[in-house]
Parts: sequence; structure tokens; C-alpha cells
Amino acid sequence: MRVTVVGLGAVGLVTAACLAADGHEVVGLEADPGRLDALRRGEVPFHEPGLDALVTSALSDRRLVLTDTAEGGVAQARLVILAVGTHGPDGSWQSASMVQCLLEVVPRLADDAALVIRSTLPPDFAVGIAARVAGLRRAVGRSLVPVLLNPEFTREGSAVRDFQRPSRIVIGVAHDPSGAGVAALKRLYAHTDAPIRIVGAMDACLGKLAANLFLATRISFANELAGVCEEYGGDIEAVVDTMAPDPRIGGYFLRAGLGFGGSCLPSQVQMMSRAVREHGLSTPLLDAVTQINTGRIDHFVDRLTAFLEDLAGKRICLLGLAFKPGTDDLRDAPSLNLARRLIAAGATVVAYDPMPRARQGAANLVPGLLIAETAAEALTGADAVGLVTEWPEFAALDWEGVIASMRRAIVVDGRNALDVGRLIEAGYAYAGFGRAGSTGTLQDAPRDEGRRVGSPAEPVLTLALGRAE
Ligand code: UGA
Repeated sequence: MRVTVVGLGAVGLVTAACLAADGHEVVGLEADPGRLDALRRGEVPFHEPGLDALVTSALSDRRLVLTDTAEGGVAQARLVILAVGTHGPDGSWQSASMVQCLLEVVPRLADDAALVIRSTLPPDFAVGIAARVAGLRRAVGRSLVPVLLNPEFTREGSAVRDFQRPSRIVIGVAHDPSGAGVAALKRLYAHTDAPIRIVGAMDACLGKLAANLFLATRISFANELAGVCEEYGGDIEAVVDTMAPDPRIGGYFLRAGLGFGGSCLPSQVQMMSRAVREHGLSTPLLDAVTQINTGRIDHFVDRLTAFLEDLAGKRICLLGLAFKPGTDDLRDAPSLNLARRLIAAGATVVAYDPMPRARQGAANLVPGLLIAETAAEALTGADAVGLVTEWPEFAALDWEGVIASMRRAIVVDGRNALDVGRLIEAGYAYAGFGRAGSTGTLQDAPRDEGRRVGSPAEPVLTLALGRAE
């Protein structure tokens, strides 16, 4: 089928590349000249496992053709899928790109085409979408076309796999009296036997948002529970493990730590609260979800302060910058606010992330942040290390070996991802979040003859740490 995907960001490019791999003829329309140039050179401008190979092969077979104009890309398509960005980092609804996109695309749609919106829409925009599209068609004397919402549930870091093996397909019908649009869209998902839910447009819009709000709520619940575990000496992972076998609960999205970041969960919780408040309703649960989440940074700083007393003049190593492993995305990444807080408290902050783009981006976004090119370099001379993103390579670090290069052997594990027993055995003072075995303060840390838990070590090698370009 001939398909045009408008907006080649994280959602659109995965959609376009996966559809091309399934044999569809895909046109990718991207307005950002930098992004388009990079793609034309075969470079995917963000890290998404498996995507480079799909894009390269689709471009070379010409199953994916790139363009920057709606004139060239829309009129031939049977389905036009909109995947432009719609919300800002603070939960604001950025309608401009979607409105502009509709203005350019809708008048040019073929009469037998269907418009499919994959971008996340706030309810106040979704409610009028059929009328808005109809108005744009009537203004140019064209017949009405089907208008469908088809929200995505792919996660960064596993977006290709999630597209190929989705948990469900949701099709929200804003306008499709003949059913031709739904029939065409269902053909795109012939590769999967995932359940298909055909619902009203508002139900699709709310279903998309509700899924993310629920995931965020689970994480904030786990974080609140972690505090209870800390108070009573419980272990959050053991507690979750007792809940997980219950099919009504499950164990997913109950990992405590620094909280949720990224371009979706934080902003969508806030977007929904804001939208609903404008209708005179209150959202105490969602407000608490955000409040608990933002409080995680304070909790992390408190943990460090409990070990170091005063952060001024201390050298803090942060391992991980991306908002989660498997991506180089820094949008709403907890690392950024954490680094800013530590720097404001007078600490020298040295960070490392395996993704070069994350290192470069963080250096640009956080004044004063030092960037190391390896984890070992970041750890050298550190008074404490904070794990921010649970990349597997950090769990696999030679913790017994690197301890000698640190000034003090203190670990604050913001993702509960490190082996507590191993670190304590190696001589570190360790604090996780709601995790048994955490030492909490230096006074709590076990001290054996010959170990130097938390105390300043011999002078260490000082490396020149430059900020990335
Ligand atoms: C999220 C949803 O999971 C996807 O289903 C959805 O399609 C996507 O938003 C979207 O709306 O486009 P994503 O933002 O890629 O996907 O990231 P998640 O995997 O949901 O993780 C979000 C944050 O929660 C990360 O910072 C992660 O570290 C944190 N997290 C996750 C926890 O703190 N604890 C957990 O147990 C799980």
C-alpha cells in the first residue's frame, strides 16, 4: 500500500521504516532540513536499536522515499499518517506543528485516502478533529475523507520490536462512515495478530493517555512504597515480588528510584492535569504522581548529603544521562535536573553515558557539567558516584577495581540496579531506594580492617575532563 508518514521523529521514523520493511511503499515527509539531510546520508539522528538497519535497507531499496514537501508526498498515498511532535517538556500542548501539518496535508489528500493521526492528542484537540479536517476539505471543494486516531504504544529503546509485535492496535474512528479507512488501516497491521480495538476517537485519545498515566502512577506508587520500606526496613524489590504473581497487579513498572523521565510520561501527566483543570475538574491523583516524581531528585540529593554532609567542593560522578537505557534521549531526563541541583550546591559533577549524543547534549544543556569519555574516567577522584541510568555496562563495571581510583567509596544507586552485596563486600558505602542492605549513612557502613569505606583515599590521578562539543 502507498503510505505517507509525516514527521520522522522517534515515532514517525520507526513507523515508516517498519512499514517499508513490511513491503509497503512509504514516503517520509520531514520538515526539519537537518534531520532530512542526516536521513538522506543514511544517518538516524537518534539511537533506537535496530532502526539504522531498517532505514538503510528501506532507503536503498527505495521502499522509503524522503521528501520535505507535502506537494510531493501526499497526493498519491492511500493512507497518510501524521506523527508530528505535539507536546512540550513541561506538559504544554504544542499545537502549532499539528495545526500547520493539517493545513498542508488535508487539502492535498486523494479522495480515496484516509488520514491517520498517530501523534498523541489532548482531548480538547481530539474532540474537534473530524470537524477541523472536514472544514479544510470543504474549503478546497474536496470530498470528506476518513479520519482515524491510531495511537502508538511503542517504548523508546524497543520501538522497532514494539511496532512489529504490538500488545494491541487501537483505532479511534473520528469519521469513517463507509468503514473504508478502518479496513485500509487494518491492512497495515496484517503482520501481527495483536488484538485490534476499534473505538470512538475520544476513547482512543483517552486510552492512549490513560495507559501512560497509569504507568506513571505505578512508578510513583512504587517510589512512595520505597519510602515506606526505608522507614520500616523492608525491601521494595521483595515487596513487589510478593505482589507480582497476582494477575490483577503484575510486576511491571514498579521499579523504584529516580522516577520517570522522557518525552511522554512526565509531560502527559501534566498535560492531562492541565486540560482537565480547565474544565473545572481536579486531578489529585495525577498531581500526586507528579509531585512524588519530582521529589525523587530531592531524595537522591538527600541520600548523597547523608553520606557527604556538605556537597560543596565534592566531586560527584553521575553514571548515565539518557532518561533510560537503550536511548540517547535527554528529554525530561532526571540526570539534567539532578546535575543542576548538585552543581548549584557547589559540587563538581562529572558525568558519563555510553551514548555520545547524550554526553554531548547534556554538556550543552547543563552549564558547568563535566563530561567524561569513559565510566572509569568519570569515577576517578570522585567523592561519590550516583547511578542515574541503568545501562547494563554499569552493573558489569569492575567495581572492585575502580574503587582504588575513587576518593571516597560511596554509591547512590538511583535505579536499584547494582548488586548491593557485591558493592558492600568490595568496601563501598551504598544507598539504594527502599532497598535492603543500603547503608544510608557512612556511620552505617560496614568497616573491615583494610577497607576504607567512605573515607578520603590517597591522592588520585586527576584527569583533564573536557566538556563535549
Ligand atoms: C512510554 C510508554 O511506556 C510507551 O508505551 C508509550 O508508547 C510511550 O511512552 C509514548 O507515549 O510514546 P517511553 O517514554 O519510551 O514509553 O519510556 P518508558 O519505558 O515508559 O519509561 C519512562 C520512564 O519511567 C523512564 O525514565 C524509566 O526509567 C522510568 N521507569 C520505568 C521507572 O522509573 N520505573 C519503572 O518501573 C519503569
